[in-house]
Amino acid sequence: MTMKNIKLGIIGAMESEVELLVSMLENKESRKIGKHTYYAGLLSGTPVVIARAGVGKVNAAVCTAAMILEFTPEFILNTGVAGALGKGITVGDVIIADCCIEYDLEYGSLGDARGSVFYPDSTSEIIMPADAELSSKLEGAAKAVSGGEFAVKRGAVATGDKFVSSNAAREDILSAFPDALCCEMEGAAIAQVCRLYSVKFSVLRSMSDSADGEAEMDFPTFAKLSADRAARIAAELSRAL
Ligand code: ADE
Repeated sequence: MTMKNIKLGIIGAMESEVELLVSMLENKESRKIGKHTYYAGLLSGTPVVIARAGVGKVNAAVCTAAMILEFTPEFILNTGVAGALGKGITVGDVIIADCCIEYDLEYGSLGDARGSVFYPDSTSEIIMPADAELSSKLEGAAKAVSGGEFAVKRGAVATGDKFVSSNAAREDILSAFPDALCCEMEGAAIAQVCRLYSVKFSVLRSMSDSADGEAEMDFPTFAKLSADRAARIAAELSRAL
């Protein structure tokens, strides 16, 4: 691997979330670490590394930790699709994280607040803030790609190891975190690893469904279109970095 000074690390869970970006890489090189393949190269002229993590928090965390330790990117971006939770947000709309929350961290009778992340240095937080500069650049890139065709909003991204496909599951998240705009299965895990290693991060998600009883039908119908939309925005961000 000869690529140096990597500016941006991009992580998606599924093949459909990274394939367009990998196909756009110039001077592409690859390296396998465990089951993760990392593709380094130039994306819109900027040195980046891209990986498909696999679905869920553990895959995302391991992929992120190895990316940080082996490639030392200045920023990490999680790109892909999500289920819409916020009012008025529909399939195809784009959410950019101001912060990430692990909605499925629960402590039962121990009494700690839901979502609390406890770090090994005894600090803790529920809201993991995305890098404001990176999220602003993402917003600019998303609006440039949209040209008014789809809505672009910033807010909280909620993560848990569950495909949310019922009103009960959707309401469970919103009852604890009413400001959550969308739900997915990796963003906050990537955020937590970035917080552990002091790496700037953000999350970019295009809505594939509304995390309700229709989600199992909508997801296969809209996932590719929405994943490619997010990928085009990531490529535009890369140009701006
Ligand atoms: N990713 C896309 N849609 C999702 C949903 N409804 N729940 C969890 N992750 C998702």
